[in-house]
Amino acid sequence: MLDFAIRNVSILDGSGSPAFAGDVGLKDGRIDGVGAVGAAHKELDARGLTLSPGFIDTHSHDDGAFLRYPDMMFKLAQGVTTVVSGNCGFSAVPADPARDPMQMSGGILAGLNGDFRDLDGYFKTVLELKPNINNMMLVGHNTVRTMVMDMAQRSPSPDELAQMKAHVERALEQGACGFSSGLIYRPGRWSQTEEVTELARCAAPFDALYTTHMRNEGDHLLEAVEESLTISREAGVHLHISHHKAAGPGNWGKVRDSLARVDTALAAGQRVTLDVYPYTAGSGRMVEYFNLDRVNQALAEVIRIARCPAFREFEGRMLKDIAVEQGIHITEAVRMILTAPRGDHTICIHFIIAEEDIETNLAHADMMVGSDGIPDLRGRPHPRLFGTFPRVLARYVRERGILKLPEAVRRMTSLAADTFGMIDRGRIREGAFADLVLFDPAVITDTATYDDPKQYPDGIKAVWVNGALSVLDGEDRKAGAGQMLRFRRT
Ligand code: CU
Ligand code: ZN
Repeated sequence: MLDFAIRNVSILDGSGSPAFAGDVGLKDGRIDGVGAVGAAHKELDARGLTLSPGFIDTHSHDDGAFLRYPDMMFKLAQGVTTVVSGNCGFSAVPADPARDPMQMSGGILAGLNGDFRDLDGYFKTVLELKPNINNMMLVGHNTVRTMVMDMAQRSPSPDELAQMKAHVERALEQGACGFSSGLIYRPGRWSQTEEVTELARCAAPFDALYTTHMRNEGDHLLEAVEESLTISREAGVHLHISHHKAAGPGNWGKVRDSLARVDTALAAGQRVTLDVYPYTAGSGRMVEYFNLDRVNQALAEVIRIARCPAFREFEGRMLKDIAVEQGIHITEAVRMILTAPRGDHTICIHFIIAEEDIETNLAHADMMVGSDGIPDLRGRPHPRLFGTFPRVLARYVRERGILKLPEAVRRMTSLAADTFGMIDRGRIREGAFADLVLFDPAVITDTATYDDPKQYPDGIKAVWVNGALSVLDGEDRKAGAGQMLRFRRT
């Protein structure tokens, strides 16, 4: 007897093949049958709906969210059943409970002093909270470097490099899927290519990944792509470029040149993949984007405040409007916010990306989807936290026709699972873990906006995680069935 049967559904198996009609049976957390399946304790007639593998968010910063919001509803309600955390060089581990988690993790563990030091400890702590979704982790360069060298603005000594490598190797041994960098951030921006290459080399024996928030995504995008390709080639590892974009109007369109370089590398046998979020704005800690001695006015003009502990009334507003209201120059508004108490906790949204570039990105066969959502529910976060996956299916598949539904689902499922070493996930087939999303392709849509970002999407009927019905009609069923995943291990 099956635990659950989903009947008469249109099945997109995640491979990119067209949908076919049938039933899917679940038992003991896995898919037990596809096609015609037998009797079950519970049934759902899903006529008219589409069932696909659960979506995989390849770019998340959910390390701390698993501790703060274990229901993870902002992801689960989108149909996301697994995230990859530890991106952009910031990861929950290695950790030192005595150190400031804000500094160690670039803010992703702010306010949380987890009692763990390594990946095993972090996983144990998270599992005790019964998270609703699965998590795969990267180990981050910025975190490792801060652990060993604090904020030193120099290259590591041989001994420091050895200590950093030991941290990276330990995380990989415990199941991290790779090493991530964030080379625009502190302290990563003070590292030379050689340092990053040496650390990425740690991933080679595991055949794990090097993922990167590149050193530059604007005027020097192409040089940054070359640096990333060089690092991964010399280290002998798979390269994954995070949130691929060309920032700033003067650079719009450059994603074509950047993808051409990726294609050349692919043709030469290098392994390269990428991810993108479906919005024209980025988001992050505002302090990272401005030099207070020389405030970039063009950037300030396109900034919207998401979260601002010093000035709550600014949340959800454009900086240029705030400056007018305060009667100050916009560059002065930047200084006022960032130098206020806890000004460095301010999170901003910056409109720097061309719509056309998003489409160019999504048209590339090795492009996955990553939300890059910053899981801080205070203030008005970037809507990508709640809307990324339904938005791709609504806007870029259904409305704009940039890619077909089976292909979009492949990128969100099997391609991501295979790339990030998730065993028996990302496909609907007998024996695979039952991570599933049931949706209406004609209806699915994001409803989160910049003004009202904390909104769950429409058109998703149900989501299963490891066989447990976790969301039904937008309601959290409190299944708590998420697992902490280890690279290429079950
Ligand atoms: Cu990121
Ligand atoms: Zn990033």
